[in-house]
Formats: sequence, C-alpha cells, structure tokens
Amino acid sequence: MTADEGAALKRLIVIAAVLCVGCTRPSIPDWEEANPIVPIPEPPLGITSSFAELAEPPTPERVRLGRWLFYDTRLSADGSISCATCHRPEHGFSEPTAVSTGIGGRTGRRKAPSFVNQAWTLYPVFFWDGRAASLEEQALGPVQNPIEMGNTLDGMLVNLSRIAGYARYFEEAFGTPQITADRVAKSIADYERTRLSGNSPWDRWRAGDQGAVSDRVKQGHELFFGKAACNQCHLGQNFTDSSFHNLGVGWDPDAKEFRDWGRYDVTGQDGDRGAFKTPTLREVTTRAPYMHDGSIATLREVVEYYDRGGDPNPWLDPKMKPLRLTEADIDALVALIEALEGEGHQDSPPAAFPR
Ligand code: HEC
Ligand code: HEC
Repeated sequence: MTADEGAALKRLIVIAAVLCVGCTRPSIPDWEEANPIVPIPEPPLGITSSFAELAEPPTPERVRLGRWLFYDTRLSADGSISCATCHRPEHGFSEPTAVSTGIGGRTGRRKAPSFVNQAWTLYPVFFWDGRAASLEEQALGPVQNPIEMGNTLDGMLVNLSRIAGYARYFEEAFGTPQITADRVAKSIADYERTRLSGNSPWDRWRAGDQGAVSDRVKQGHELFFGKAACNQCHLGQNFTDSSFHNLGVGWDPDAKEFRDWGRYDVTGQDGDRGAFKTPTLREVTTRAPYMHDGSIATLREVVEYYDRGGDPNPWLDPKMKPLRLTEADIDALVALIEALEGEGHQDSPPAAFPR
C-alpha cells in the first residue's frame, strides 16, 4: 500500500465510523424535531409577574403539546381550521380583519382578540364579553362553535385518538396516554400562557434607557397618563383593567340599539349594555382594524374617536369625555401605542405534527 492509499483508507474508516454513529442513534420523529421541549420563558422586561405565582404554572411538556394542538387543523370538524387560523402569530395572535372567518367561510360578528400576557389578569374574564372564566374554559369553546371549528368534543377526541403519534405526548404531559378534552384544554392554555409581550421600547425607557424612545413617545406617555387619562381603563403591565366599558362602538343611532350588546348578554344588567372588555394595548400595531367589531381602521382614528368622546348613547361610560387634543397630541399618543411593540410571543406553526 502506498502512503496515499493508506491515507485514503484511513479517511474511509473515519467516514464509515461517523456514518455508523449516525445510524445507531435512536431516530427522532420529524415532528419532535420541529417542536422540541423548551424551558418556560422568563417574563420579559416590563412584566413583573412570574409563572411561579400561578396556582398551576405551565410545564414545558404541556406547552410543547399545546403548541401542536393550537396549530393543528385536525381539531376541527373538516380538518380545515386551527386556533391559529384566527389567532395568527404574526398579528400578535389576533388577526388583520374586522371579524373572524371560520369553518366553511362562515363569519362571526367579533374580531379575534390577542391573548399576550393573559397568564396574569386582574380578573379572570375571557372573550370580549367576559363569558369564560379561564383559558382552559375558553379553549374548548371555539372547537364546538358552529361558525369557528364546527366540531363536537367527542368528534375532536375521535380525530386526535386516530393519530397514533399524539398519545406519547399526552403521557409525557399528564402521566398517562389518555386523550381527554380537559387535557387538550390544559395544554393549549399553557401554550397561550407562554405568549408574552414586553421589552418594548417603552419598557426599556421606563427601565431607565433614555434613548429607547423619541421625545414624541415621551410626550404621548404624559398625555396617556395625564390629560387624555387613557390609563383609567388601560392600566397595569398589560394595559387593561380586565373590565367592561361602553365607548359607543357599534351603536346604531337610527335604530337606537347596539348591533352587539356585549357584556349585557352575559349579565343581563342594564349598565352593561354595549360594554366590551378593555383589550391590551401591547402588540396593537399589527392587528388593525380595531375594536371588537374591527370598525375603526387605524390607530390615529381610534385616538380621534376618543378625542370626540366616543359615540353618544344612553349607556356611554362616564369616563368617556371629549379630550380636546391637538394634532400633535394625537400623533404623540399614536407614537406611544406604537412603542408598545415588544417581544416574547413570536412564533410560527411547527413544520410537522404527530402522525
Ligand atoms: C374562526 C375564528 C376563531 C378560531 C378558529 C378560534 N378563535 Fe379564539 N376567538 C375568536 C373570536 C372572534 C374571539 C372573540 C369572541 C368573543 O369575544 O365573543 C376569540 C376569543 C379567544 C380568546 C379570548 C381572549 C381574550 O382576551 O379574552 C382566546 C384565549 C381564544 N380565542 C383562544 C382560542 C383557541 C385556543 C382556539 C382553538 C381551540 C381558538 N381561539 C380558535 C376567533 C377564533
Ligand atoms: C372608559 C375606558 C377606556 C378609556 C378611558 C380608554 N379606553 Fe381604549 N379601549 C377601551 C375598551 C373597552 C376598548 C374596546 C372597545 C370595543 O371594542 O367596543 C378599547 C379599545 C382601544 C383600542 C383598540 C385596541 C384593539 O385591540 O382593538 C386602542 C388602540 C385604545 N383603546 C387606545 C386608547 C387610548 C389611546 C386611550 C386614551 C385616549 C383610551 N384607549 C382610553 C377602554 C378604554
């Protein structure tokens, strides 16, 4: 053997050894590679709550399972709709349309709200009218809603139990492989709880970085917490009081009624007519058009709406008053809201699902 041949042989042996290590490693299914277990995230700057303070903190195994389920169209009756059809990650888990379109192209009358930072709420109220008391309770609603995912819980469980690959992740998350509606709800809710928003330019400025925002944003901050008093309702780390207010959105002055009676349909209390839950202002720029019915096209028009004092109606919230803002004030408030774009929620659908 020449020296060259000897070197070539050595190279071959090395290559064979490398290949063999590859061939003996237990193979990981492609769907697991597409959705690995990751640690529960640390809340970003500006979010002072912690997962440890929750009665039942999310676990990495449930979040992984919930991430698949959230993006899996097989939860719906005809395999066409997932939660993410309406709650789109690139729109802060809301959507860029006025109202939602579900199964068979059917449309509802409300817009899909964002759920960033919903692990911690002042009061446990979900949906625009607060009819669900937890993310778990909320999660199974759309599956059974005839205009959203159009399924039944039994139908969903049959679909999921036909997918052999899922059982082992239910076992990992809950100790046994049974697929139950409660477990589906719990996993999806835990995935939702890890969608956070903080460390925005505004948060960095509040934490002491003077250069993080422009002077216009600082002026917007003064107005928001001062003359315009937006913080009467948009308060705390997630800019919401988790309460219900009538701004006049959706009032029909001719018919003298609301197209959607909101909170009133849940409580039957007269004062709740036309009232809707205050939405978070975090991640708001990616989810125009605005309000529960998507009736206001831009952030500037939203601020102008407040400047007018909303739409007069018999149940208008007493906090709604004309604000007498200048053009510069309006620009500044818009700039402030735009400075609330942060991080901690970004995601995209996993490239593969259990089969
Ligand atoms: C067809 C569109 C559509 C689908 C599919 C859908 N949603 Fe929604 N979602 C909405 C709409 C619209 C609302 C507001 C409804 C209301 O307030 O009455 C909403 C509300 C919510 C809320 C309440 C947020 C808050 O701030 O109160 C959460 C959480 C949520 N959905 C999670 C889910 C989950 C989980 C799934 C999948 C199991 C899902 N959604 C599927 C349209 C959809
Ligand atoms: C009386 C309570 C209250 C006050 C004061 C208030 N808001 Fe709101 N805000 C709400 C409620 C409730 C909604 C949702 C209304 C609906 O959809 O019918 C809302 C919606 C919004 C939206 C749209 C968010 C989305 O997801 O569609 C923006 C932006 C907004 N408010 C900014 C402001 C600004 C800026 C101010 C101050 C000028 C302000 N708000 C003052 C309660 C309030």
